[in-house]
Amino acid sequence: MSSVTPSIHYLSDYTPPVFDIESVYLEFELNPSHTKVTNTMQVRCIQSGQPLVLDGEQLDLKQVLLDGEDVTEDCLLTGESLSLHVSKPQFELKIVTQIAPQSNTSLEGLYRTSGNYCTQCEAEGFRKITFFLDRPDVLSFFTTKIVADKQDNAVLLSNGNLIETGELADNRHYAIWEDPYRKPSYLFALVAGNLKHIEDHYITADGRKVALRIYVEPQNLDKCQHAMDSLKRSMKWDEERFGLIYDLDIYMIVAVDDFNMGAMENKGLNVFNSKFVLAKPDTATDVDYEGIEAVIGHEYFHNWTGNRVTCRDWFQLTLKEGLTVFRDQEFTADMLSPAVKRIEDVKRLRNNQFPEDSGPMAHPIQPQSYIEMNNFYTMTVYEKGAEVVRLYHTLLGETGFQKGMKLYFERHDGQAVTVEDFRNAMADANQVDLSQMHHWYIQSGTPTLEVKGHYDPFAQTYTLHCQQSLPDQAVAFQPLLIPIKVGLLSKEGKELTLKVAESTQVEMNTQQTQALLWMQEGSQSFTFENVPEPPTPSLLRGFSAPVHLQYDYADQDLSLLSRADSDSFVRWESFQTLALNEIKRNIKRHEKDQPLELSTALIEAFGSVLLDSEADPALIALTISMPDLTYIGEQFEVINVDAVYEVQRWLRAQLALTYQSELQEMYGKLAGVQQAYRYHKTDIAQRMLKNVCLRYLMLLESQFELGQQQFQSQQNMTDVLAALETIAHTDHAQRDGCLQSFYETWQHDPLVLDKWFALQSGSHHLHALEHVQALVEHKDFKYENPNRVRSVLGVFGRVNLLGFHRADGRGYEFLANQVIKLDGINPQVAARIVAPFTHWQRYDQQRQAFMKSALQKILSVDSLSKDVYEIVSKSLAE
Ligand code: TRP
Ligand code: ZN
Repeated sequence: MSSVTPSIHYLSDYTPPVFDIESVYLEFELNPSHTKVTNTMQVRCIQSGQPLVLDGEQLDLKQVLLDGEDVTEDCLLTGESLSLHVSKPQFELKIVTQIAPQSNTSLEGLYRTSGNYCTQCEAEGFRKITFFLDRPDVLSFFTTKIVADKQDNAVLLSNGNLIETGELADNRHYAIWEDPYRKPSYLFALVAGNLKHIEDHYITADGRKVALRIYVEPQNLDKCQHAMDSLKRSMKWDEERFGLIYDLDIYMIVAVDDFNMGAMENKGLNVFNSKFVLAKPDTATDVDYEGIEAVIGHEYFHNWTGNRVTCRDWFQLTLKEGLTVFRDQEFTADMLSPAVKRIEDVKRLRNNQFPEDSGPMAHPIQPQSYIEMNNFYTMTVYEKGAEVVRLYHTLLGETGFQKGMKLYFERHDGQAVTVEDFRNAMADANQVDLSQMHHWYIQSGTPTLEVKGHYDPFAQTYTLHCQQSLPDQAVAFQPLLIPIKVGLLSKEGKELTLKVAESTQVEMNTQQTQALLWMQEGSQSFTFENVPEPPTPSLLRGFSAPVHLQYDYADQDLSLLSRADSDSFVRWESFQTLALNEIKRNIKRHEKDQPLELSTALIEAFGSVLLDSEADPALIALTISMPDLTYIGEQFEVINVDAVYEVQRWLRAQLALTYQSELQEMYGKLAGVQQAYRYHKTDIAQRMLKNVCLRYLMLLESQFELGQQQFQSQQNMTDVLAALETIAHTDHAQRDGCLQSFYETWQHDPLVLDKWFALQSGSHHLHALEHVQALVEHKDFKYENPNRVRSVLGVFGRVNLLGFHRADGRGYEFLANQVIKLDGINPQVAARIVAPFTHWQRYDQQRQAFMKSALQKILSVDSLSKDVYEIVSKSLAE
């Protein structure tokens, strides 16, 4: 790090703006190496006596005019801001600057991608375009004039409506766009280049016709239909479920290859990572198709939850992100299967957010401070934030929640607000006190919910004693409001009718078999009456709160729940716990050099799930896939890398051996129903189960041909990739040939090529590190392209347990050097790649030492970015 330590921003320092920019007219004269930006602002003074301080970084200032008078010499420049004393109540400020999009590899501000121009302004990128009050609580009317060479820039786009176009001298032309809605600068966008588009339209519920356009590079025009269909479904769903209607006459989506994140909700002009737009059955997997539908939905839903109502400051990020993720989760659930979606979301939360919440970067969903805002676009703010929004939904029900949403928009349309404003709308609309929900926003860490059951045979009562706790906090522990959805099962697995004592705050389902308990105290008991026998409790149905549940289930309770509970999440969860117990026992055996053992209980449970002909194939697939390596690791204070890997592999191989013929039969049956690819839940579920069967069978060397056959039959990318992945994990003689043939088929398609890179970086092959070292030298590897970097370096650190955590420390050394290299090119992405190092405390002494010295090496680099500095310094400070 350079001599100056970067400054820390605190929520508690918030002050409202002292100037308002009512409108802004931006004129861009595009040129790769010297783009001229003329920014004319109508400014109003809100509170006199203070200088106007505009944010601006890496800008070459040419001129400043105050109401037409040159004041360039009066401006004070710091490298991060421009300040000027103005003592007029209202004035026009015109600022001319120059920027160089071509050399902008940070992909923030105005930059080049595949020969086109595009912008990314969230969170604080607008200040790399021009001087401005670059904060979300300053809302302005934007008009944008784009002037560019016609040859290279047939298409000129910005937010809002196109109001004028024209020809200019020297083969140039221009377009003027006007956005009729006030917006903060982070929602500004500009795109220019030689893009092609597909067009469709949508008739809104109030009868207006909206033009829908998706802009892509010409060779990708045939891969946009799924994105277009997803957009139309999103628009319809938001009208039907939330009563929200689109508000402009045009909605544009642009797909670009170089993008730091998934996509961006700029008003009327979304910019997308092409990964979340482009799909054809032979290039994209079911996961890709689902991702596209979800991200298209997500960005579309932001138009109301984010754009029409935005954030007061960046500490409120979860206000728009948690809410919009919740909305996109519900959208996907309604389009596909609610049960499957919930399990997938819980897995995602546990595998990615729980580790973040127990590591040195842990922060509440409303962070209290940051060095670099880009580092706080986290699983916690997004996914845990969505879980917290879901708590309101669980507590208030769909009707109550929608009442709250309605009031939220009535009160705050056109405003920049806080998470408290959201909570107040929910509370006031339902006349309930939700003030305790605040505690979810200010405390970090995953809460533990410990439950003990007590049956009283004389009184015929059953009591649940519940206790909540949090890991160490900056603030004194404040109990959370935890909704606990429960049912009670008889020995035969029948749902008992529930009756609670009068005073308990509880809501029942119509059959009286499920209760929603409002846990509000640090410890609290709930008693059920008229319980004829000691029941098995079915707890936290639907994962009704993002907590670690601790209940001392016997294996036969778990078997019963996994077979008989009415809640699909609990059935799945019970099987996972059963498997996890088995894995933990075997990790102990492994550590003591004892032979591993597989219990008949697990063997039988596995068989009964696999062969359940009534069940949704997707739920079977999710259930019989063992817990992921990361989730297993999470169960331990110190992660024994080799034991975790060996035991999981051994267990799966044993199950494959035991059920070989059943798996083969199931595989054959599902492979037989294959037809032309359809993005449909029935087909997705069948492919999912088929490929889980394949994964098991491929653990048996004798079955290699099965995978090879599926790979060669080239049905669709879902099946091809599933097969190639199983092949890549082996050391079979055919392995390299298969990889090579895939490369030759797909080297022209960057998104498919990313998969080829990712398979090898995530492979459990003994020489994974050597392979990854070769991949960064490959002619198709580019440090400038975030998708490629994530496919290789991101996957290696995050999923290659054996390669990254090699006992000799060479995996760490490699990744640290890569982070350093990348930091000079794209700090935002470098800060993501360094994340796996932050969990160093969870490994053995030797590995800890290696990881720490890798972090220290990174920290010692001159002119390290704020992004990487923040992550590395915080994780070493622990
Ligand atoms: N708001 C975007 C979303 O939909 C997130 C995002 C896109 C972003 N690009 C970014 C955040 C670049 C920070 C930097 O979730
Ligand atoms: Zn978002």
